[in-house]
This record gives sequence, C-alpha cells and structure tokens, in this order.
Amino acid sequence: MKVTVIGTGYVGLVTGACLAEMGNHVLCLDVDQRKIDILNSGGIPIHEPGLQEVVRRNAAAGRLEFTTDIAHSVAHGTLQFIAVGTPPDEDGSADLQYVLAAARNIGRLMTDYKVVIDKSTVPVGTADKVKAAIAEELAARGVDLEYSVASNPEFLKEGAAVNDFMRPDRVVVGVEDERAVLLLKALYQPFTRNRERLLVMDVRSAEFTKYAANAMLATRISFMNELSRLAERLGADIELVRVGIGSDPRIGTSFLYAGAGYGGSCFPKDVKALVRTSAETGLPAVLLNAVEQVNDEQKLVLVDKLVKRYGENLNGKTFALWGLAFKPNTDDMREAPSRVLIAELLKRGASVKAYDPVATEEAKRVLVDAEGNTLAGLSFVEAANDALEGANGLVIVTEWKEFRSPDFDTLAATLKDKIVFDGRNLYEPALVRASGLEYHSIGRQ
Ligand code: NAI
Repeated sequence: MKVTVIGTGYVGLVTGACLAEMGNHVLCLDVDQRKIDILNSGGIPIHEPGLQEVVRRNAAAGRLEFTTDIAHSVAHGTLQFIAVGTPPDEDGSADLQYVLAAARNIGRLMTDYKVVIDKSTVPVGTADKVKAAIAEELAARGVDLEYSVASNPEFLKEGAAVNDFMRPDRVVVGVEDERAVLLLKALYQPFTRNRERLLVMDVRSAEFTKYAANAMLATRISFMNELSRLAERLGADIELVRVGIGSDPRIGTSFLYAGAGYGGSCFPKDVKALVRTSAETGLPAVLLNAVEQVNDEQKLVLVDKLVKRYGENLNGKTFALWGLAFKPNTDDMREAPSRVLIAELLKRGASVKAYDPVATEEAKRVLVDAEGNTLAGLSFVEAANDALEGANGLVIVTEWKEFRSPDFDTLAATLKDKIVFDGRNLYEPALVRASGLEYHSIGRQ
C-alpha cells in the first residue's frame, strides 16, 4: 500500500519504518528540514533501539522515503497518517494546530480518495474537526472528493518502540465507514495475524482509549509515589510493599515503581489534557488532578532529600548526576524529572556534573539559558565515573542499566561526602551502606 506519514518524530518515524518493513511504500513528511536532511543522508534524528537498522534497510530498498514537499506527500499515500505533536496549550488542553494544519494541507491538495488517520494523541472529537477542516478546503476549491477520517492512537513505548509497533498488544482503530475499515485491516494484518489484536471501534471510543490508558498508567505511578512517602513515615519499605501487592494478579507488577516522578512527552500532557476535557464537559476530574499534583511534588523528592541533608544553601557543593533522559533507552528530555532537579540544584548554588548514556546531546540543546548557553553551574561528562570526580554526592535520576551495578567502593573512595541519593531505588540499601556510603532512596529507610 502507499502510505504517507505526516510528522517524522518518535511516533511518525517508527510508524513509517515499520510499515515499510512489511512491504508498504511509505513517504514520511516533516516540516523540519534538519530532520529530513539527517534521514536522507542515512542518519536518524532520535535515539531509539533498533530503529536505525529498519530505517536504513527500507530506505535502501526504496520503500521508505523522506520529504518536506507537502504536495508530494499528499499525492503519495491513499493512507495519510497524521503523527505530528499535540503539545499542551496554556490551559493544559491539547494544542491541535499541527494536526489541523496537516488536515488542511490534505484537503487543499488531494485529488483522489484518502483515508486520513489520526495517530497523534488527540482529544475526543478531534476526528470531527479534522473532517471539517478537510471539508472546508475542498469546498473552497469547489471540488467534491470522497475521504474517510479514522482514529488509530499509538501505544508504543519510547525505548522499545520498534518492538512495540512490530508486535503490538493491540491495535485500536476507530472508524466510521467500511471502505476505511477494509484498508486499515489489510494494513495491520501482518502485525496482528498471529492473534486477533485489531480492535475496531467507534472513533470517539478510540480517541478516548488512548487517554484512558495513559491516565491509568500515570495513576499507578502517582499512587505508588504517594504510598512511598507514607512508607518513609511509617517505617516500611515500598519495594517490599510493591512486590507484596504486585503478586496479586488483579494488581499486576507493572507500573508500580516509586521514583522521582513520571515525565516524557506523553503522561504529563495527556493527564493535563484529560483534566481539561473533563472540566469542559462539566465533570471536573478529581482523581486525575491529584495524580498530577502528586507527580509535580514527586519531581522535587530528591531536592527535598538533598536539602534535608545539606540545608537550603548548596553553595560550593557539586553533585554528580546519573541520568538525564526521562527514562532509559531514549534521548527524550521532554518533561524529564532531571530538568526540575537540575534547575533546583543550580538555584540553590550547587554545581551539577551530568552523565547520560545517550541523552547528553539533547540535554545540551534544551538545558540552556536565554542566550542559548549551557546553564551556569551545569557541565556534562562522557562517562559515569567522570561525574564523580570532585563531587560531594551522587544523585541518580534515570534507571539506565549501566547504573545498576556500580563499584560501591569506588563511589565511596571518590565522592567527597560518600553519599548517594537514588531516585529509582536501584540498590539494596545494606549493600550500599556496607561500602561506607550514606544512602537515600525512595520510600525506604
Ligand atoms: P515529535 O515532536 O517527536 O514529532 C512530531 C513531528 O511532527 C516533528 O518532527 C514536527 O516537526 C512534525 N510536524 C509538526 N507539524 C507538522 C506538519 N504540519 N507537517 C509535517 N510535520 C509536522 O512527537 P512524537 O513524540 O512523535 O508524538 C507525536 C504524537 O504521538 C503526539 O500526539 C504524542 O502524544 C503521540 N504519541 C507519542 C508517543 C511517544 O512515545 N513519543 C507514544 C504514543 C503517542
């Protein structure tokens, strides 16, 4: 099939590459010339395990192409996926300007039947807006062409995106007409053939499913973070409690980890958008507001522990920071808890030496002052142990595998104050303390 993917970011590029892998002829469009240039010269603009190989293989076979030419992209695909960003507006609602701009381009330039598929995470009712935007453009041209609008939210996880797309738990398709159903079933059949995983539903339910899924996951995290605070006061260990409740199949083990708060491009903005949607319908969200509040506070949990230990004034102190990305296996820095931590430490006069296995370049791009210079007091190093040199203590924010088994004796010998603040509960407290280190973690004594 001929497929166009509009927006070549984390979702669009993975979608395009994986659809090409199944033999489709895919054209990826982006307005960002830099990204398209990188892709056309054989690179990829993001870090995502396994993606580079899929992109290279399919580009070499001529099945995967990249362009900034909107007319070419509209002409190419019968299926037009919209996978552009939907960042939060000032009031927390999803900003649909990029989605609707993409829809208008299609309406302005299409000359034959198209299925327009919202893959971006968009509020319930967006498909109607997309439909109306295309209708307006067609009316302005005085032409009458058939088209379908479908919702196909994406559930991939950054860091495991290729695998998630190739072997989905489920593919949700919200669609109104039989012609589009048939095309989407055919497109996804190779990904879902071993077990029926294609869930066809009405458009509004499909749009809502994505928010419901992310809100549920965010709720589990905030729930455990709230319990972790209580555990500290009660003298309990949240890690033992986690295993204790997770072994109940009704609860399950995933997304029960207390930590330094959730971040990324999805949970924070999707929870906000759902809160906003609820308010608009006259049913203010009670639970979700609390989920968000707990998370905002949790991003400060490490700062609170540092301040409790050292006092408000951190002048002259240096902290090694392990982990910048919002989670392991990605270079995505959007809403990363490390950003809040770094800002708070610098504000109190501390210096920060930061290390991340892959997100350093992205961090250098986003952690800048108004003039575009790296924030004063912040520096980046090339190896985890380099961050320890001259540091008073170590702060761990992202649970990269390479941080899981450090040499605690080296930490004790290098860190001036022999102190570790672990925002992800990576270690057995007794083991860390056996090396003479002071160890602060989340929800444990
Ligand atoms: P992203 O920011 O990485 O990529 C979006 C891309 O769209 C950018 O490269 C941008 O230049 C491009 N763009 C914007 N307007 C355009 C236009 N009119 N024409 C062509 N390109 C345009 O965003 P990401 O992370 O891929 O997210 C996209 C959507 O998917 C969002 O709604 C997000 O909530 C959703 N999503 C994201 C997931 C993730 O893990 N990142 C997972 C599931 C859904």
